[in-house]
Amino acid sequence: MKYRICALLILVCLLSSCSLPWQSAAPVTPTPTAQPFTGVVAPLPTLAPPTTLREAAQRRGILIGSAVGVSQLRSDPMYGTTLAQEFDEVTPENAMKFDALEPNPGEYTFADGDAIVAFARAHGMVVRGHNLVWYRSLPPWLANGSFSRTQLMAILKDHIMTVVSHYRGKLIAWDVVNEAIADGTDTLRNSIWMQDIGPDYIDWAFRWAHQADPQVHLFYNDYGGDGLGAKSNAIYNLVKGLVQRGVPIYGVGLQMHVSITDPPSEQDVIANMQRLAALGLKVQITEMDVEIQGDPRPLAEKLQAQAQVYHDMMAACLAVSACEAFVMWGFTDRYSWIPAATGHADEPLIYDQNYHPKPAFHALMSALASQS
Ligand code: G3I
Repeated sequence: MKYRICALLILVCLLSSCSLPWQSAAPVTPTPTAQPFTGVVAPLPTLAPPTTLREAAQRRGILIGSAVGVSQLRSDPMYGTTLAQEFDEVTPENAMKFDALEPNPGEYTFADGDAIVAFARAHGMVVRGHNLVWYRSLPPWLANGSFSRTQLMAILKDHIMTVVSHYRGKLIAWDVVNEAIADGTDTLRNSIWMQDIGPDYIDWAFRWAHQADPQVHLFYNDYGGDGLGAKSNAIYNLVKGLVQRGVPIYGVGLQMHVSITDPPSEQDVIANMQRLAALGLKVQITEMDVEIQGDPRPLAEKLQAQAQVYHDMMAACLAVSACEAFVMWGFTDRYSWIPAATGHADEPLIYDQNYHPKPAFHALMSALASQS
């Protein structure tokens, strides 16, 4: 009888939604009122357009960089301010070359290179090391010395191991071998390395650099092989051989020192990047500048032509997923290497001498904003 009364009580309670002693009062959730679909989707919050190259490039997933001269970094405040504002990558223009780092045998001077690394770190930028093995910028003791193969191997190994170890964990990349192919040929340049060690100096250099820092990305870097043609074929064949031999190469630097009179075509650069990518390599544009000297057009037209070249090369990089970085050999015409090297006035970069952005600057912003 007691059980029948209890069962009856439960039944009544369930029907009348009263609370039984063991039931906790459940919170009442209001039934959401369905909103009629109007066909209008609430807009996503829009990002303001980027105002710096750095921001624009970050949105496209590539690095944007410049070569940096340590003396102007120390002496010209506007130089450092603009560099840090617009770029997220730097390449020491001269401070990590052989003559700068090892002016006397076994005596290393890292102060200038370290200053650039510290500047980059302070401004959230990454650093490409440039370079470990080149036929130029060798200290006199090396350029004028006479060495056996064994001695030169030891010198090169010591230099690479010491320098790469010093910067281990501080750089994203090294140009391990720079400009090893002779102009106008598909053979290796006749450098001290080639003469005294032989063609395998390239393999050794990559292997020693990898041994000293297995994380840093190792590049072969050269000029005049940006699009399609004999030089880029020679570069392609060289790096293909490295890949086939298991040499730890990560990518190819296309220097992109070009001119408005004969720039590579966007399609050729894309095709060249794609064939390098098909080898499993990454690509970076590493030293771009665009000469305007020797062209008879008025200055304003030349600057527009220059802007178009910058635009097209940025578009090429954005079109190939293996292209990771777009680096220029400086950013202000105030400090370009070209007038001194060619003996002629020029304005090859994206800011004028007074740090005003040129049409080329706006062309890069436009290419970075384009979604095609
Ligand atoms: O610092 C000395 C100075 O003390 C001396 O009074 C003066 C006299 O000539 O020379 C100064 O050094 C010069 C240095 O630039 C700094 O201005 C060197 O002579 C000169 O050879 C050196 O030129 C550099 C060149 O590479 C050779 O290392 C350029 O600045 C630099 O832009 C250029 O960069 C190369 C890349 O490394 C590789 N790709 C091509 C690119 C352009 O040539």
